[in-house]
Amino acid sequence: MFPGRLTDCLNVEDYRRAAKRRAHKMVFDYIDGGSDDEVTRFENHTAFDDYRLAHRVLSGVDKPNMSSTIMGQKIDVPFILSPAAGNRLFHTDGEIGPAKAADSVGTVYCLSTLSSRSIEEIAALTKGPKWFQLYVWNDRVLVKEMLDRAKAAGYTALILTVDFPITGNRERDPKNGFTIPPKLGLKQVWHAMNAPLWSLDYVTKPSVKYANLAEDTSAVSLNEFVAQQLSADFSWDDAEWLLGEWSGPALIKGIARPDDAKRAINTGFQAISLSNHGGRQLDSSLAPIHCVQDVRQAIGSDAELIVDGGIRRGTDVLKALALGADAVSFARPYLYGLAAFGAKGAIQAVQQLQDAVARDMILAGVGSLKALNESYIRRKN
Ligand code: LAC
Repeated sequence: MFPGRLTDCLNVEDYRRAAKRRAHKMVFDYIDGGSDDEVTRFENHTAFDDYRLAHRVLSGVDKPNMSSTIMGQKIDVPFILSPAAGNRLFHTDGEIGPAKAADSVGTVYCLSTLSSRSIEEIAALTKGPKWFQLYVWNDRVLVKEMLDRAKAAGYTALILTVDFPITGNRERDPKNGFTIPPKLGLKQVWHAMNAPLWSLDYVTKPSVKYANLAEDTSAVSLNEFVAQQLSADFSWDDAEWLLGEWSGPALIKGIARPDDAKRAINTGFQAISLSNHGGRQLDSSLAPIHCVQDVRQAIGSDAELIVDGGIRRGTDVLKALALGADAVSFARPYLYGLAAFGAKGAIQAVQQLQDAVARDMILAGVGSLKALNESYIRRKN
């Protein structure tokens, strides 16, 4: 049976199924989908199965210490919440869900440039730490304005996403006629009848828009929007310019190769997110978990390393850390929770991952994140 109630949901796949039931098809597919044949989208997750954990016994661990520091920010769990665009599309609570979820477990919430609730609204919502994610707009004045707003609102670090020069070929979206904000043609109205709760929410609550932009944008596909607004020719020189404008801690998101990781450090980034945008950009790109050891070996301790992509279980977090990451990050686990149940779904999904990491550290006999080293991991076969 598909879980229909929040209390029935015990893991990420349960929220995914519940989201599929509640959300409009085009909305669920936007969250769930990847590019081309979705090889990378699924491999991000299945790649964790290439590793096994070698647990230690009788280590006397009953309350594992899950706290650490990333870019100077203390976090109480070894994960942060990745940025994701337009959360209001999924549920009227929008980014309120993940911001509260992050706060409830003592970690960082990363707000997307393309959020549907504003930089200032989310800043005021919780006292928890927040970082601001940036895409690079053609309009450099707009970039500077966004950086100033984020700084003024108390976002303490910048995330530059670099795997998104153009939108990947996500074939579910044009098949569904998906636009942001959604346009309701015949097909969409037909699908809306199968998603009555989402539809009621959509028509009775404030409209979906990119809240950090002054103008409402017309309903266009993400490809068109990105092609019009973002700067595909953005280069390492531009990244250096951006770091100068921000002048604070910065994370680069979307790295797969050791040489790019080294270049990012030389350019001035303090942290690196190994990511392929949830398998939504270049299909057949490497699963982030497969990149950890090579990148860690290349950069030593010169930067902090985050694994973004495919996290579904506490054991995935342990594997990433044992291979050399400092933390992990994810979006789909909380987005499924949000799309299925609103803010309370996002919160419960994130808290269950917190519990899972604690449980798995006890089962593996690891008392602290620092102790979680390569001795705990084996490549299968
Ligand atoms: C996406 C972008 C907007 O993956 O982050 O849809």
